Amino acid sequence: MKVTAQIPATIANLGCGFDCLGLALPVYNVITIEETVLPGSGIEINIIDEFGLENIENIPRDKNNIVYKAIELLYNYIGQSPNELKISIKTGIPVARGLGSSASVIVGGLIAANELLGKPADEAVLLSIATEIEGHPDNIAPAILGGVVLSDWEVDGSVVSKKLPWPEDWLVTICIPDYELSTGISRSVLPADVPMKDAVYNLRHSAMFVQAVHTHDKELLKLALKDRLHQPYRTKLVPGMQQIMDNLKHTEGVLGCVLAGAGPSVAVIQDGTNTEAIKEIVSSTWNNINVNAQIYTLPVENEGAKIIV
Ligand code: HSE
Repeated sequence: MKVTAQIPATIANLGCGFDCLGLALPVYNVITIEETVLPGSGIEINIIDEFGLENIENIPRDKNNIVYKAIELLYNYIGQSPNELKISIKTGIPVARGLGSSASVIVGGLIAANELLGKPADEAVLLSIATEIEGHPDNIAPAILGGVVLSDWEVDGSVVSKKLPWPEDWLVTICIPDYELSTGISRSVLPADVPMKDAVYNLRHSAMFVQAVHTHDKELLKLALKDRLHQPYRTKLVPGMQQIMDNLKHTEGVLGCVLAGAGPSVAVIQDGTNTEAIKEIVSSTWNNINVNAQIYTLPVENEGAKIIV
């Protein structure tokens, strides 16, 4: 039997919601898994690259591959181990750019294996296993549910996720620079402790975010999309990010500008107007410091990971 899953890209944090807010975008990885019948054939992993990934040869093709690990965990969940498997990964989501590529392949491996095994795991179990692998739920939850999602990871390992009613006219201009930044490096610059006033600042802003989305309140969202827990520490890893934020501050149509996940991509949340001018400001700011970028304006993808074949 052969199963194919399609999983959206995601942007985590959204400024104020470090490790707990995220949204899905209509850019996808596609993962196919097939149990082969030939005993002893082991695992075969093929990667079909649609984005022009760098370092594609460094992606493990053995049991250390993260898709295989996710599949293995699902088999273990029902007390089994995978036998011979053929895994194909078609990558439409760039790697190490803050677009949830690792969450996407973890979720893809899990939902494809779940389908293959007759759906032993429900959504709560999938969320919990995927978050355990990833280490935080903010990319995983929108990859599974689609839309804009608020999620919480409890100490018992359970994940509580709530989809927020994102207004359809609010778009995301995603600006992807031509270099990679690993989440590990981007997390390593964060302090272990933060000042109480910064924690309270983000508490206020994430509460405002939820209210702004529920009431379609642009002015409140403009206030909400700010952060003191991670972006100030990561700015130095993303040359030009602060200038982009400054240059867009008073631009018509812009509701806010945030680091996409752990970076280095930058996401401009906008009200659907003035798109070309917004893109031009980002691209010329980066051009001035010799950073090339791909820039796309996209709606939020309301549908999460799904089996397509
Ligand atoms: N919340 C995570 C971070 C997302 O900012 O490090 C990246 O995986």
